[in-house]
Amino acid sequence: MDFNGKCFWITGAASGMGKSLSLLLASFNTQLILSDRDVKGLSQVADKAIALGARVLTLPLDMSDSGSIRKAVSGVLTNVKRIDGLYQFAGISQRSLIIDTPLENDRKIMEVNFFGVIELAKALLPHMIDQGGGQMAVTSSLVGKFGFPYRSAYSASKHALHGYFESLRTENSLNNIRVSILIPGRIQTNISLFALDKDGKEHGKMDPGQANGITAEKAARQILKGLRKEKKEIHVGGKELLMLYIRRFFPALFYYISSRIKPV
Ligand SMILES: NC(=O)c1ccc[n+]([C@@H]2O[C@H](COP(=O)([O-])OP(=O)(O)OC[C@H]3O[C@@H](n4cnc5c(N)ncnc54)[C@H](OP(=O)(O)O)[C@@H]3O)[C@@H](O)[C@H]2O)c1
Repeated sequence: MDFNGKCFWITGAASGMGKSLSLLLASFNTQLILSDRDVKGLSQVADKAIALGARVLTLPLDMSDSGSIRKAVSGVLTNVKRIDGLYQFAGISQRSLIIDTPLENDRKIMEVNFFGVIELAKALLPHMIDQGGGQMAVTSSLVGKFGFPYRSAYSASKHALHGYFESLRTENSLNNIRVSILIPGRIQTNISLFALDKDGKEHGKMDPGQANGITAEKAARQILKGLRKEKKEIHVGGKELLMLYIRRFFPALFYYISSRIKPV
Protein backbone atom coordinates (compact mmCIF):
# COMPACT_ATOMS: atom_id res chain seq x y z
CA MET A 1 0.00 0.00 0.00
CA ASP A 2 1.28 3.41 -0.99
CA PHE A 3 -0.47 5.90 1.32
CA ASN A 4 0.29 9.06 -0.67
CA GLY A 5 -2.79 11.01 -1.76
CA LYS A 6 -5.15 8.15 -0.84
CA CYS A 7 -8.42 8.11 1.09
CA PHE A 8 -8.79 6.20 4.36
CA TRP A 9 -11.72 5.66 6.72
CA ILE A 10 -10.64 5.11 10.33
CA THR A 11 -12.99 4.14 13.18
CA GLY A 12 -12.02 4.63 16.82
CA ALA A 13 -10.17 7.68 15.51
CA ALA A 14 -10.74 9.87 18.60
CA SER A 15 -8.39 7.96 20.87
CA GLY A 16 -5.54 5.50 21.25
CA MET A 17 -4.23 3.60 18.24
CA GLY A 18 -6.93 4.87 15.84
CA LYS A 19 -6.03 8.46 16.69
CA SER A 20 -2.28 7.87 16.41
CA LEU A 21 -2.59 6.07 13.08
CA SER A 22 -4.86 8.86 11.74
CA LEU A 23 -2.20 11.45 12.61
CA LEU A 24 0.53 9.39 10.94
CA LEU A 25 -1.58 9.03 7.79
CA ALA A 26 -2.35 12.77 7.79
CA SER A 27 1.18 13.60 6.71
CA PHE A 28 0.83 11.62 3.45
CA ASN A 29 -1.40 14.24 1.77
CA THR A 30 -4.36 11.97 2.44
CA GLN A 31 -8.11 12.36 2.64
CA LEU A 32 -9.25 11.01 6.01
CA ILE A 33 -12.71 10.06 7.16
CA LEU A 34 -12.56 9.95 10.94
CA SER A 35 -15.27 8.19 12.96
CA ASP A 36 -15.86 7.55 16.63
CA ARG A 37 -18.62 7.85 19.23
CA ASP A 38 -16.54 10.50 21.05
CA VAL A 39 -17.51 13.61 19.07
CA LYS A 40 -15.34 16.08 21.00
CA GLY A 41 -12.25 13.87 20.76
CA LEU A 42 -12.93 13.40 17.06
CA SER A 43 -12.92 17.12 16.32
CA GLN A 44 -9.63 17.58 18.22
CA VAL A 45 -8.00 14.83 16.14
CA ALA A 46 -9.49 16.34 12.97
CA ASP A 47 -7.92 19.74 13.76
CA LYS A 48 -4.50 18.12 14.25
CA ALA A 49 -4.83 16.06 11.07
CA ILE A 50 -5.77 19.17 9.04
CA ALA A 51 -2.74 20.98 10.47
CA LEU A 52 -0.61 18.07 9.22
CA GLY A 53 -1.97 18.50 5.70
CA ALA A 54 -4.89 16.06 5.46
CA ARG A 55 -8.34 16.78 4.06
CA VAL A 56 -10.72 15.55 6.77
CA LEU A 57 -14.35 14.52 7.01
CA THR A 58 -15.55 13.67 10.54
CA LEU A 59 -18.47 11.30 10.87
CA PRO A 60 -19.57 10.41 14.40
CA LEU A 61 -20.60 6.79 14.59
CA ASP A 62 -21.89 4.34 17.18
CA MET A 63 -20.72 0.85 16.28
CA SER A 64 -23.44 -0.72 18.43
CA ASP A 65 -26.19 0.92 16.35
CA SER A 66 -26.99 -0.27 12.81
CA GLY A 67 -28.86 2.96 12.03
CA SER A 68 -25.78 5.00 12.94
CA ILE A 69 -23.54 2.76 10.82
CA ARG A 70 -25.88 3.04 7.78
CA LYS A 71 -26.00 6.84 8.17
CA ALA A 72 -22.20 7.06 8.28
CA VAL A 73 -21.83 4.81 5.23
CA SER A 74 -24.24 6.94 3.22
CA GLY A 75 -22.39 10.08 4.42
CA VAL A 76 -19.13 8.62 3.15
CA LEU A 77 -20.49 7.46 -0.18
CA THR A 78 -22.03 10.86 -0.95
CA ASN A 79 -18.81 12.74 -0.10
CA VAL A 80 -16.06 10.49 -1.37
CA LYS A 81 -15.43 8.84 -4.75
CA ARG A 82 -13.19 6.02 -3.56
CA ILE A 83 -11.94 4.60 -0.28
CA ASP A 84 -8.53 2.99 -0.46
CA GLY A 85 -8.50 1.71 3.12
CA LEU A 86 -11.01 0.98 5.87
CA TYR A 87 -9.13 0.68 9.15
CA GLN A 88 -11.33 -0.31 12.09
CA PHE A 89 -10.18 0.34 15.66
CA ALA A 90 -13.40 1.16 17.58
CA GLY A 91 -13.89 -1.40 20.33
CA ILE A 92 -14.70 -1.98 23.97
CA SER A 93 -13.09 -4.33 26.45
CA GLN A 94 -14.32 -6.27 29.46
CA ARG A 95 -13.36 -6.78 33.10
CA SER A 96 -15.67 -9.43 34.56
CA LEU A 97 -15.67 -13.16 35.30
CA ILE A 98 -17.95 -15.37 33.19
CA ILE A 99 -19.85 -16.45 36.28
CA ASP A 100 -20.77 -12.84 37.10
CA THR A 101 -21.44 -11.57 33.57
CA PRO A 102 -25.03 -11.27 32.34
CA LEU A 103 -25.61 -12.35 28.74
CA GLU A 104 -26.63 -8.82 27.80
CA ASN A 105 -23.04 -7.65 28.49
CA ASP A 106 -21.69 -10.44 26.25
CA ARG A 107 -24.09 -9.34 23.50
CA LYS A 108 -23.12 -5.67 23.88
CA ILE A 109 -19.43 -6.50 23.45
CA MET A 110 -20.18 -8.69 20.42
CA GLU A 111 -22.32 -5.89 18.89
CA VAL A 112 -19.51 -3.32 19.01
CA ASN A 113 -16.45 -5.53 18.45
CA PHE A 114 -17.89 -7.97 15.92
CA PHE A 115 -21.30 -7.14 14.39
CA GLY A 116 -20.55 -3.42 14.02
CA VAL A 117 -17.21 -4.22 12.41
CA ILE A 118 -18.64 -6.69 9.89
CA GLU A 119 -21.61 -4.42 9.13
CA LEU A 120 -19.27 -1.63 8.10
CA ALA A 121 -17.06 -3.99 6.10
CA LYS A 122 -20.07 -5.50 4.30
CA ALA A 123 -21.41 -2.04 3.44
CA LEU A 124 -18.12 -0.96 1.87
CA LEU A 125 -17.10 -4.21 0.21
CA PRO A 126 -19.16 -3.80 -3.02
CA HIS A 127 -17.80 -0.27 -3.49
CA MET A 128 -14.22 -1.41 -2.98
CA ILE A 129 -14.75 -4.22 -5.49
CA ASP A 130 -16.31 -1.78 -8.04
CA GLN A 131 -13.36 0.60 -7.71
CA GLY A 132 -10.87 -2.24 -8.37
CA GLY A 133 -9.85 -3.13 -4.81
CA GLY A 134 -8.89 -1.76 -1.42
CA GLN A 135 -7.41 -2.57 1.96
CA MET A 136 -9.33 -3.52 5.09
CA ALA A 137 -7.81 -3.74 8.57
CA VAL A 138 -9.58 -4.88 11.72
CA THR A 139 -8.25 -4.83 15.26
CA SER A 140 -8.12 -8.14 17.08
CA SER A 141 -5.91 -8.67 20.13
CA LEU A 142 -3.52 -11.15 21.69
CA VAL A 143 -6.67 -12.49 23.36
CA GLY A 144 -8.11 -12.96 19.85
CA LYS A 145 -5.56 -15.79 19.70
CA PHE A 146 -6.17 -17.35 23.13
CA GLY A 147 -8.61 -16.99 26.02
CA PHE A 148 -7.84 -14.81 29.02
CA PRO A 149 -9.46 -14.35 32.45
CA TYR A 150 -11.95 -11.50 32.81
CA ARG A 151 -12.09 -11.09 29.01
CA SER A 152 -14.41 -13.97 27.92
CA ALA A 153 -16.77 -12.09 25.55
CA TYR A 154 -14.03 -9.68 24.50
CA SER A 155 -11.75 -12.58 23.61
CA ALA A 156 -14.62 -14.33 21.78
CA SER A 157 -15.43 -11.15 19.80
CA LYS A 158 -11.80 -10.86 18.69
CA HIS A 159 -11.54 -14.58 17.80
CA ALA A 160 -14.68 -14.11 15.67
CA LEU A 161 -12.96 -11.37 13.66
CA HIS A 162 -10.28 -13.85 12.57
CA GLY A 163 -12.77 -16.36 11.18
CA TYR A 164 -14.81 -13.70 9.44
CA PHE A 165 -12.04 -11.62 7.91
CA GLU A 166 -9.93 -14.61 6.86
CA SER A 167 -13.03 -15.78 4.97
CA LEU A 168 -13.55 -12.30 3.51
CA ARG A 169 -9.92 -12.26 2.36
CA THR A 170 -10.21 -15.68 0.73
CA GLU A 171 -13.51 -14.89 -1.01
CA ASN A 172 -12.15 -11.61 -2.38
CA SER A 173 -8.50 -12.12 -3.19
CA LEU A 174 -9.33 -12.02 -6.92
CA ASN A 175 -11.19 -8.74 -6.27
CA ASN A 176 -7.94 -7.22 -4.97
CA ILE A 177 -9.30 -6.82 -1.42
CA ARG A 178 -6.35 -7.02 0.97
CA VAL A 179 -7.10 -7.82 4.61
CA SER A 180 -4.82 -7.19 7.58
CA ILE A 181 -5.73 -8.39 11.06
CA LEU A 182 -4.01 -6.31 13.76
CA ILE A 183 -2.98 -8.15 16.91
CA PRO A 184 -2.01 -5.67 19.61
CA GLY A 185 -0.58 -6.85 22.89
CA ARG A 186 -0.48 -4.20 25.62
CA ILE A 187 -0.76 -0.63 24.45
CA GLN A 188 -0.99 2.53 26.60
CA THR A 189 -4.52 3.65 25.73
CA ASN A 190 -7.83 4.26 27.51
CA ILE A 191 -9.19 0.82 26.61
CA SER A 192 -9.33 -0.44 30.23
CA LEU A 193 -11.06 2.75 31.47
CA PHE A 194 -14.13 2.11 29.31
CA ALA A 195 -14.11 -1.70 29.66
CA LEU A 196 -17.44 -3.12 30.83
CA ASP A 197 -17.58 -4.50 34.37
CA LYS A 198 -20.08 -7.13 35.52
CA ASP A 199 -22.78 -4.49 36.00
CA GLY A 200 -22.29 -3.14 32.47
CA LYS A 201 -20.60 -0.02 33.90
CA GLU A 202 -17.22 1.42 32.98
CA HIS A 203 -14.28 -0.26 34.74
CA GLY A 204 -12.79 3.22 35.19
CA LYS A 205 -9.23 2.09 35.98
CA MET A 206 -6.00 2.18 34.03
CA ASP A 207 -4.79 -1.42 34.22
CA PRO A 208 -1.07 -2.10 34.84
CA GLY A 209 -0.93 -4.05 31.54
CA GLN A 210 -1.90 -0.95 29.55
CA ALA A 211 0.06 1.48 31.73
CA ASN A 212 3.25 -0.54 31.12
CA GLY A 213 2.62 -1.19 27.43
CA ILE A 214 4.16 0.57 24.43
CA THR A 215 2.72 3.98 23.56
CA ALA A 216 -0.11 4.35 21.06
CA GLU A 217 2.28 6.35 18.84
CA LYS A 218 4.79 3.50 18.75
CA ALA A 219 1.97 1.03 18.11
CA ALA A 220 0.74 3.18 15.20
CA ARG A 221 4.22 3.16 13.64
CA GLN A 222 4.28 -0.66 13.83
CA ILE A 223 0.78 -0.78 12.31
CA LEU A 224 1.68 1.61 9.48
CA LYS A 225 4.70 -0.53 8.60
CA GLY A 226 2.55 -3.68 8.51
CA LEU A 227 -0.19 -2.01 6.45
CA ARG A 228 2.38 -0.73 3.97
CA LYS A 229 3.60 -4.32 3.48
CA GLU A 230 -0.04 -5.54 3.40
CA LYS A 231 0.79 -8.15 6.03
CA LYS A 232 -2.04 -10.57 6.75
CA GLU A 233 -1.40 -10.37 10.50
CA ILE A 234 0.29 -7.40 12.13
CA HIS A 235 1.67 -8.04 15.61
CA VAL A 236 1.80 -4.85 17.66
CA GLY A 237 3.45 -4.42 21.04
CA GLY A 238 6.48 -5.44 23.09
CA LYS A 239 7.70 -8.58 24.81
CA GLU A 240 4.15 -9.76 25.62
CA LEU A 241 3.93 -10.84 21.95
CA LEU A 242 6.21 -13.77 22.91
CA MET A 243 3.03 -15.46 24.16
CA LEU A 244 1.99 -15.96 20.52
CA TYR A 245 5.12 -18.01 19.86
CA ILE A 246 4.97 -19.87 23.18
CA ARG A 247 1.36 -20.84 22.42
CA ARG A 248 2.29 -22.01 18.93
CA PHE A 249 5.53 -23.87 19.58
CA PHE A 250 5.33 -24.82 23.29
CA PRO A 251 1.62 -25.37 24.04
CA ALA A 252 2.27 -27.22 27.32
CA LEU A 253 4.33 -24.27 28.62
CA PHE A 254 1.62 -21.88 27.41
CA TYR A 255 -1.11 -23.73 29.35
CA TYR A 256 1.12 -23.84 32.44
CA ILE A 257 1.73 -20.07 32.28
CA SER A 258 -1.93 -19.27 31.61
CA SER A 259 -3.05 -21.42 34.56
CA ARG A 260 -0.93 -19.15 36.78
CA ILE A 261 -2.39 -15.87 35.52
CA LYS A 262 -4.21 -14.12 38.35
CA PRO A 263 -7.57 -12.76 37.17
CA VAL A 264 -7.37 -8.95 37.33
N1 LIG B 1 -4.87 -1.03 24.25
C1 LIG B 1 -4.63 -2.32 24.22
O1 LIG B 1 -3.83 -2.83 25.04
C2 LIG B 1 -5.31 -3.19 23.19
C3 LIG B 1 -4.87 -4.52 23.06
C4 LIG B 1 -5.46 -5.33 22.12
C5 LIG B 1 -6.47 -4.85 21.30
N2 LIG B 1 -6.89 -3.55 21.43
C6 LIG B 1 -7.96 -3.09 20.54
O2 LIG B 1 -7.51 -1.92 19.88
C7 LIG B 1 -8.65 -1.17 19.43
C8 LIG B 1 -8.40 0.30 19.72
O3 LIG B 1 -8.42 0.48 21.14
P1 LIG B 1 -7.39 1.42 21.91
O4 LIG B 1 -6.55 0.55 22.72
O5 LIG B 1 -6.78 2.40 21.00
O6 LIG B 1 -8.40 2.09 22.98
P2 LIG B 1 -9.16 3.50 23.05
O7 LIG B 1 -8.16 4.57 23.23
O8 LIG B 1 -10.19 3.31 24.11
O9 LIG B 1 -9.84 3.65 21.61
C9 LIG B 1 -11.04 2.99 21.28
C10 LIG B 1 -11.95 4.00 20.61
O10 LIG B 1 -13.14 3.31 20.18
C11 LIG B 1 -14.24 4.14 20.52
N3 LIG B 1 -15.47 3.36 20.67
C12 LIG B 1 -15.80 2.51 21.67
N4 LIG B 1 -17.03 2.04 21.49
C13 LIG B 1 -17.49 2.62 20.35
C14 LIG B 1 -18.72 2.55 19.65
N5 LIG B 1 -19.76 1.81 20.09
N6 LIG B 1 -18.87 3.26 18.51
C15 LIG B 1 -17.86 4.03 18.06
N7 LIG B 1 -16.68 4.18 18.69
C16 LIG B 1 -16.50 3.46 19.83
C17 LIG B 1 -13.83 4.73 21.85
O11 LIG B 1 -14.64 5.84 22.19
P3 LIG B 1 -14.76 6.26 23.77
O12 LIG B 1 -13.49 7.01 24.09
O13 LIG B 1 -15.99 7.10 23.80
O14 LIG B 1 -14.87 4.98 24.54
C18 LIG B 1 -12.39 5.09 21.58
O15 LIG B 1 -12.27 6.37 20.98
C19 LIG B 1 -9.86 -1.78 20.14
O16 LIG B 1 -10.59 -2.55 19.21
C20 LIG B 1 -9.24 -2.67 21.20
O17 LIG B 1 -10.06 -3.76 21.50
C21 LIG B 1 -6.33 -2.73 22.37
